Amino acid sequence: MGNKKVIILGSSRSKGNTAKVATAISEKYNIDVVDLNNYNISYYDYESKNLEDDFLPLIKTILEKYDTLIFTTPVYWYNMSGIMKVFFDRFSDLIRIEKETGRKLRGKNMMVISNSHDDNIDASYYIPFQKSAAYLGMEYQGNMHFNANKINDLKNIELIQL
Ligand SMILES: Cc1cc2nc3c(=O)[nH]c(=O)nc-3n(C[C@H](O)[C@H](O)[C@H](O)COP(=O)(O)O)c2cc1C
Repeated sequence: MGNKKVIILGSSRSKGNTAKVATAISEKYNIDVVDLNNYNISYYDYESKNLEDDFLPLIKTILEKYDTLIFTTPVYWYNMSGIMKVFFDRFSDLIRIEKETGRKLRGKNMMVISNSHDDNIDASYYIPFQKSAAYLGMEYQGNMHFNANKINDLKNIELIQL
């Protein structure tokens, strides 16, 4: 079985700049896109009262089908988007109560694609992803940043080489 990749799109709009980057990469490399806006995923709950929302079925499907998770997010206030952060917070369910699913994160690959109106962003932006990957036993394979002012012609987009 080949290395199957999925783009996990976390933006406050499904047809905005981050979605444009995600679509270009998806079309060029034939990579599936999961838009977090299509799912009902609530904040992490210490009392686990939200286990019936869409998080667990979604992450289980992702872990069954894919080897590389490409987290694709705009820069919002120097950070990943809120919707992406909520998704990451829910990984705590996998550590605390759904441990069998959590173990399936081990050995998966993580990549990050970001965009803002700058050509580059500080390397520190990616630290939460890198540390989360290390904690979860995932391999961090790198990150790419796009300037949202220059994304109208993404025909020549190159995903970082694995
Ligand atoms: C809530 C919010 C916060 C933002 N914060 C930043 C920021 O801290 N730094 C920055 O360069 N751009 C910031 N931006 C600009 C976005 O990164 C940029 O417009 C991006 O392309 C938006 O992607 P989207 O269309 O998928 O939302 C912010 C935009 C929003 C809506």
